Amino acid sequence: MNRAYADSLGLSPESVVGRKETEFLDPEEVHISEEKLARVFATGQGTREEIRRKRDGRTMWMHVIRVPVRGHDGRVNAVLKSARDVTEIKNYQAQLIQAQKMESLGKLAGGVAHEINTPLGIILGYAQLLKEDAQDEAMREDLGIVEKQTKVCRKIVADLLGFSRQSVSEKQEMCFNNSVMEAVTLVRHTFEMERVSIVTVLDERMPIIYGDPEKLKQVWINLLNNARDAMPEGGTIRVATSLNIGRRTVTAFFSDTGPGIEPEHLKKVFDPFFSTKAVGQGTGLGLSVSFGIVEDHEGDITVTSPVPDEHRPETEDGAPAGPGALFTVDLPLDTS
Ligand SMILES: Nc1ncnc2c1ncn2[C@@H]1O[C@H](COP(=O)(O)OP(=O)(O)OP(=O)(O)O)[C@@H](O)[C@H]1O
Ligand SMILES: [Mg+2]
Repeated sequence: MNRAYADSLGLSPESVVGRKETEFLDPEEVHISEEKLARVFATGQGTREEIRRKRDGRTMWMHVIRVPVRGHDGRVNAVLKSARDVTEIKNYQAQLIQAQKMESLGKLAGGVAHEINTPLGIILGYAQLLKEDAQDEAMREDLGIVEKQTKVCRKIVADLLGFSRQSVSEKQEMCFNNSVMEAVTLVRHTFEMERVSIVTVLDERMPIIYGDPEKLKQVWINLLNNARDAMPEGGTIRVATSLNIGRRTVTAFFSDTGPGIEPEHLKKVFDPFFSTKAVGQGTGLGLSVSFGIVEDHEGDITVTSPVPDEHRPETEDGAPAGPGALFTVDLPLDTS
């Protein structure tokens, strides 16, 4: 057993001398491993597979090869097994698939929204004209409903265009911390009435960045609203900023004490129309729009749940404290 394999099992190479591999594997794994070994002996055919393994709560991917070794008589008398840790490659693969998915979703959403935008504008224009001309009060009311609902559609279309980065942004020099604080100040009072408090931990060394203040504020507000929605019983939101001079990035962190996000949902939260909220309470566009805006700033937005310890908001005594979700927005310092 070499050092890498021993490390992956959390053992020292010395301590395993003279022992069987099966002693170190999970009982389940032993069974499968022995079965496969037997098959290589029986068929003379090697195996090649990727297996997933949980170690210390971390998922590892191993690429495992078994090769039959034949003696002078041509019979298989040994099997050589080698395992390579491919966790990192697997993670890159997953990131790539996610990036490709978001790109094609963006194209689709942008295309549809673009096509619908023009006829929608015409419907709205005619509805408004007819409403003005209508003599009949009931007719005016009906046309008012058409007008209102068309505006709802127009908002969705505008959000989709935002997600696909087809809406124009107006970038200028702006202060990152101020932008975050403006959003926090805007919602703080209403959130407090719903027993959701906001704590801020700002990096005071923040330089000026180049961005669209209105759009970025929209991102912060979307993240704050989502955290609030996740905590109907109240809780705490932690908002932190930090400057990374080495990487030349500024980062905003939004974490909460809510119930967090299911592992299988983590990949979908940025998809347009993904929402776990009741109909009428969420369209599922907030994070898609935020994703589009951050992309337009050449940044990254990511999510993890539960919240890692260093970002966990401190909760007041007796307040419910769930695993929570952490949203991280990275923006480059210099995009010009
Ligand atoms: N802080 C959070 N805690 C738990 N779940 C979250 C959090 N933020 C987002 N989510 C999940 O991600 C989903 C998508 O969020 P998104 O903001 O895109 O849409 P929405 O909030 O459902 O609707 P909209 O923002 O359009 O009103 C949410 O429905 C929720 O399930
Ligand atoms: Mg939302």
